[in-house]
Order: sequence, then C-alpha cells, then structure tokens
Amino acid sequence: MQKIEILKLDHNGRGIGKLNEKTIFVTNALPGEVVTVKNIVDKKRYMEADVDEIIEKSNLRVKPICSYFYECGGCDLMHLKYDEQKKYKENKVKDIIKRFSDIDESVVKELKSFNELEYRNKVTFHVKETCGFYKKKSYEIVNMDKCFLISNKMNKIFNIVKKELPLEFISTFVIRESKRTNEVMLIFTLKKNFEIDDYLDNLKEKVTSIYTYFNGVYNCIFGKSYLHEQLQNFTFEVSPSAFFQVNTIVAEKMYLQALNYLNPSKEDNLLDLYCGTGTIGITISPYVSKVIGVEINSEAIKDANRNKDNNGVNNVTFYASKVSDIIDEVKGALVIVDPPRAGLDKKTISEIKKMKPKKLVYISCDPMTLVRDLKDLTTDFELVEITPFDMFPQTSHVECVCLLTIR
Ligand SMILES: C[S@@+](CC[C@H](N)C(=O)[O-])C[C@H]1O[C@@H](n2cnc3c(N)ncnc32)[C@H](O)[C@@H]1O
Repeated sequence: MQKIEILKLDHNGRGIGKLNEKTIFVTNALPGEVVTVKNIVDKKRYMEADVDEIIEKSNLRVKPICSYFYECGGCDLMHLKYDEQKKYKENKVKDIIKRFSDIDESVVKELKSFNELEYRNKVTFHVKETCGFYKKKSYEIVNMDKCFLISNKMNKIFNIVKKELPLEFISTFVIRESKRTNEVMLIFTLKKNFEIDDYLDNLKEKVTSIYTYFNGVYNCIFGKSYLHEQLQNFTFEVSPSAFFQVNTIVAEKMYLQALNYLNPSKEDNLLDLYCGTGTIGITISPYVSKVIGVEINSEAIKDANRNKDNNGVNNVTFYASKVSDIIDEVKGALVIVDPPRAGLDKKTISEIKKMKPKKLVYISCDPMTLVRDLKDLTTDFELVEITPFDMFPQTSHVECVCLLTIR
C-alpha cells in the first residue's frame, strides 16, 4: 500500500496528503505523520480515506482518553495534544481570514479556553437497536457506555435509559444539565406513544424534569417545566426546545468579552439579534439604557420574557420574529448578532449598515460564514479584533467573538 505524508490538518480536523497527484483527506491522521490508508472514496477532485497503519507517528499524537474515539463521530481531535488543538483552532480562524478575505490575520487574538472535558450541558443521543452517537461518516450507532464530554451524572442517566427504557419506541433523547444548579432535563422524542411512566422510577431519582416530544408537541411528564441555569448573577429558565450555549463556562466568558468589546455607556441602546432565551441582552442590561432582543423561536422568547421578569430586569423588550422581517424597524447604537451557522442574510447586513451602530459585536460558530459576512460588513465597519473561544474542545469547531466599529 502506498505511503502518504500528512502535510497539515483541514478545517474539519482531517489530515491532508497527496495520493497519485490528488489531494486526499485522511480521518485521524496528523501533520508530519506517514500513513497507509483504507476505505478510500474517490470524489473526482479529491479523495477521502481512513488511516490503515501509522508508519511514522507524530509526537503531537496522544492516546485518546475515550476508547470509542476512533469509531465515534462525536469528537474529531482527541488524538491531538490539547495545546495543539488550541493552536490548530487559532490558526484555522487565521487561515480562513487570510484565504477568503483581504483582512489582515493579525486581528485574530489568542484563542481562549477554559475546560477540556465534561463541558457539554446538552447532548442528543440517537436510538436504534442501541443508543449513543453516530459513528464517524455513518448513521450506525456506537454501542457506548460513556462520553467524556459530559458529566458523570449525565453518563449515569444515559446508561439507565439504555438499560431500562424500551428503545424501540424512542427515536432520540436529549439530556440537558445545568452546570450551576445541578438540575437535569430529559427529553424523549417518541416514535409512538406508550406508557413511558412505567419505566421511569430510577430516572426520576436522578433528574428534575422529564419531557416527551410526540407529533410536534412537548409534554412535561415529570418534575419542573424548565431547567434553571445561572450566568453571572442571573438565573435563566430554559424550555426543552430553546437554544442555550452548549458550554456554560465558555458562554459566560464570551458574553463578558462581548460586554468588554461594547464598553457601553448608560445612554446606549443595545440590539441583541438572534437572542435565544435572552441571555446576552439580560446580562448586559445593567450597563445600558435599553435592550431590544429578536429571536425566531417563540418558545425561546417566552423563556426570555420570563427570564427578564424573574431577574427583575425592566429595560429589555423581546420580539419573536425572523431578524430580517423586523430589522428595518429596530435600532441600537450598539448591536450584537449571534446567528446560527448560516450567518447573516443580505437584508440584515444591509439594514445594519443603514443603522450605523457605533459598535457591532458578531458572535459566530462558523468561521466560513463569518468571513463571508465580514467581507461585506467591512465596507462600512472596521474590523478591530476577533477572539476565538474553544467552546467545543476535542472537536474541530471554534467560536469567534468579533468587534467592529463604524467607519
Ligand atoms: C447561536 S444561537 C444564539 C442564541 C443566544 N444569543 C445565546 O447566546 O444563547 C442562534 C439563535 O438564532 C435563532 N434564529 C435562527 N434563525 C433566526 C432568524 N432568521 N431570525 C431570528 N432568530 C433566528 C435560533 O433560534 C437561536 O436561538
């Protein structure tokens, strides 16, 4: 079998090499390694493959703490020393900025990281004959009993579901855990309605809420209606369908970075676009005159309004709307956008330009859509700084908080 030298990592954490003059992306191979490959898929312009044998091993390679790493699709960098994962992610942001824009990569600051393992406050497990995460490049499920990205408590709950619930009636289940209040919410998506309560005795000792989701309806069948989480001095109620940042500790640090970047005065109005359950707007509300939050998910807006009231905040107004449907009717001297991976649409960008906020903070979970939007925004704004955060250690994902000021 032909030997392949791995030159660098691609943006998904795969090793890049050459085979017969063609670029080949090799899962689990590291830069500097020489490997042979198997399971080659020829995609015309490039190839994909898995490592068969490592002939020369990188000294950056470590034995993954998780024995499922090589088959499980949950993580893609656990075989790389954690310090190197951080360098890789910082360089990934710089590389994307350099390759896809004229922006100077020196705007990218050092990546901030706070927790390597057990950081997830939410996981979704798939269910077929067993339950767990999908295997790499597959819809087969890993027969697992532990995930190192979640707490011991979440792992115990996972194993109770795996052993005691009739899996044939369940298509997925979600475990959400508050890192500050220790509450746990379990949400079962059902294939058919059945007497689920007959199987929940052991789970009820471990969780604070159980929901079912069937035919598009969430039903609380045990405990509290919401999960309570704390960020800074505020408590947030999270309903089963609402978005909440997956790494609580890093989310809190990102919000502080956003506040730091905005450096608001008490006269400023803040527009919090894609506001979810209102976490950013509420944590910044003490520092500004008024906040307007906009979010498409009406359940998240109900959470946001309760969160505002429960925390005694009275200078925030939330709107349940698509951002692009309302953007020409709202205003703020300061704007934060925190869109999903797809980034911002053209209309939203054009209306933000017309609004001319003093400062715009862009929180992004995908550097590719971020750079596309920054190219457009920098006609009217100066990009001052990008701080990458390691929201998802052991994976190739990276989150960015960016400061733009009006030209
Ligand atoms: C990355 S989350 C950020 C949520 C919040 N800022 C936080 O930190 O928890 C993106 C949010 O945008 C919402 N969303 C997606 N598309 C939207 C749209 N077109 N208009 C308004 N909100 C949208 C999602 O429901 C989700 O709550």
